Amino acid sequence: MHLKNPPRENSISLKGAVQISNSSFLVYEDACGKMFLKTGNEEALHKSVVQSMIDSNPYIAKILKRFHIKPLIDTKTLKDLTGGHMNDTCNIAMGVYSILSEDIKEKVDKGTLKEASMLHDLGKVLIPSKILNKPAKLNVRERKIMNIHSTLGYELLKTQGVSEDVLNLIKYHHQNWKHSGYPILTSESKASDLGVQIISIADKYSALREARVYRRRLSRIEALLILYREVREGKILPEVYQALVKYAEKYDS
Ligand SMILES: [Fe+2]
Ligand SMILES: [Fe+2]
Repeated sequence: MHLKNPPRENSISLKGAVQISNSSFLVYEDACGKMFLKTGNEEALHKSVVQSMIDSNPYIAKILKRFHIKPLIDTKTLKDLTGGHMNDTCNIAMGVYSILSEDIKEKVDKGTLKEASMLHDLGKVLIPSKILNKPAKLNVRERKIMNIHSTLGYELLKTQGVSEDVLNLIKYHHQNWKHSGYPILTSESKASDLGVQIISIADKYSALREARVYRRRLSRIEALLILYREVREGKILPEVYQALVKYAEKYDS
């Protein structure tokens, strides 16, 4: 491919990003409307990709406006999440899946589970970092804003060729076995309860095993005890919890 020399920085605008033969490029347009490519740093690339997701779904701007959130993309959050929590959640979800009975496995698609767990918190990229990293309990308004991250993730990926099953797992990864989580399930919701259970327990366990600005990293036993309380409350399916315990004993020392 022959690329033109990029014109002066102040006369160009970023249009998007493309992947060509395992390399990532940013797509720019100059003042005369000519398009050209530049290799970009990861942060600019992520920002550009998320911006194009926002541009292709006007409903996202409406949600942000409703909650008085500026459409700012927090690339540091995205980098931390993709390299840390989302990756860990995916590994735990895959581990739990492998331990579950054949009967349950038959009802959950492994590829769907993997893709959804890898992307489940993408919507946090639009949650103000003041709320995301608040070193104290969130107030009611902040909690409402935090809770839209799963819907934002769904809306960001809706226009990106992601399958309906993956999208639904992302949207409902904070839902639970007795359906008292968020967002509220409607008669049209098609999320797989079992898939949600696996992502949800992996997500919670990963979060408990990480230090947060408001608390220290919990030990394996402390994390499992907290989740056991949720089993007793009917929020976690016992079979999924038992698989997590086996996974943690074997792989999380
Ligand atoms: Fe989440
Ligand atoms: Fe998460």
